[in-house]
Amino acid sequence: MKAKIRIFQEGDQEPVIGLWRDCGLVVPWNDPAKDIQRKLEDSPELFLVAETEGFVAGSCMAGYDGHRGWIFYMAVQPDQQGCGIARALLDHAETVLKERGCPKVELMVRDTNTKVLEFYRHLGYSDEPVKVLGKRLIPDE
Ligand SMILES: CC(C)(COP(=O)(O)OP(=O)(O)OC[C@H]1O[C@@H](n2cnc3c(N)ncnc32)[C@H](O)[C@@H]1OP(=O)(O)O)[C@@H](O)C(=O)NCCC(=O)NCCS
Repeated sequence: MKAKIRIFQEGDQEPVIGLWRDCGLVVPWNDPAKDIQRKLEDSPELFLVAETEGFVAGSCMAGYDGHRGWIFYMAVQPDQQGCGIARALLDHAETVLKERGCPKVELMVRDTNTKVLEFYRHLGYSDEPVKVLGKRLIPDE
């Protein structure tokens, strides 16, 4: 069944967090509920959900900072992977970013997530010669 791609809406929080847990995207140093709240306060229209038969099947949190587009929380329910849902989410996110004038989209993959690197390469993403640095401003724990 074809997934419907839509903006995150009220009632999605619980299933979306469940999806992220099922996909291993929840880590102790990030509170997923706070991540959702922050996104809804900043740019809710870039928070995408894939729905099949009325249930949340996937998510993709895009962002645009005026220079680069970003993709976070790309996830598809394990029992629905391999059906084109992530491709549909990514296509949609890229279209919306492009419509905003975003010239390039980037994303981060944990070093340990080697399977997903192949997925992104397959969809046209290439390795960049950069090291990502980070600094925590608000601890979630
Ligand atoms: C990565 C993930 C989102 C892919 O979702 P999916 O719905 O199974 O992907 P799709 O079915 O849309 O696949 C799209 C294309 O990528 C290919 N693909 C999927 N996984 C792949 C992999 N691991 N390696 C290479 N190609 C892959 C598919 O064959 C398909 O190719 P096609 O459209 O040319 O036929 C999913 O596996 C997932 O949720 N993983 C766990 C969460 C995660 O690690 N997210 C990334 C965080 S950075």
